Amino acid sequence: MKIDILTLFPEMFEGVLNSSILKKAQEKEAVTYTVIDFREFTTNKHRKVDDYPYGGGAGMVLAPQPLFDAVESMKDGQEKEPRIILMCPQGEPLTQKKAEELAEEDHLIFVCGHYEGYDERIREHLATDEISIGDYVLTGGELAAMVVIDSVTRLLPEVLGNEASSKLDSYSSGLLEHPHYTRPADFRGMKVPDVLLSGDHAKIQKWRDRESLKRTFLRRPDLIDEGSLSDEDRKFLEELKNNTNAE
Ligand code: ADE
Repeated sequence: MKIDILTLFPEMFEGVLNSSILKKAQEKEAVTYTVIDFREFTTNKHRKVDDYPYGGGAGMVLAPQPLFDAVESMKDGQEKEPRIILMCPQGEPLTQKKAEELAEEDHLIFVCGHYEGYDERIREHLATDEISIGDYVLTGGELAAMVVIDSVTRLLPEVLGNEASSKLDSYSSGLLEHPHYTRPADFRGMKVPDVLLSGDHAKIQKWRDRESLKRTFLRRPDLIDEGSLSDEDRKFLEELKNNTNAE
């Protein structure tokens, strides 16, 4: 996969793209990242990329010319058009499903805005997607783009050593993950649940499934799609609901 990033602050990406799994993903040639300062594309003689809003008001607006020219220069003539992703708080919320959808693409171009906003023609005629990472406002789209890039890169084939590990994540099954424990079995009197030491794989799996459902019910009930649960899980969920009501 090719990931291009258009930003006015390329230095912000150095540490993140060159550490840990994202670094390994590049070494394995699963992905190439190119970070471009779109100020390089402005035709303004003062190198400006923004301007005052028509109609007045506070703040500056990113002008269309530098971003249209920068994106056009990144298109490499491949048959499949790249996805052009505008980072902004008004965008579609990032979900695991969206990350999975983007991980199927060959070429992503991220546009990181700063200042008050984008000229509307960038949204309407340049972007294919607008993504928000949450209902809060950041100083710019860079941190948000890094979050999306991380969530997409780890899904690319061969990036995670253990193929299964991204499939078992919180969210990819629709539910939150069950608790994990490692050695020692007793740490300062805090004990690992007996079932995990039992060696009975069927029992362990059942415990994990129930804990996963319980945790999701307690923390994120909005994620539970009752229609997709087995009869047994639905019964367990009813028990959880009854217990909570009784308390
Ligand atoms: N730019 C500023 N805030 C943002 C957010 N919450 N998500 C994506 N891009 C942003």
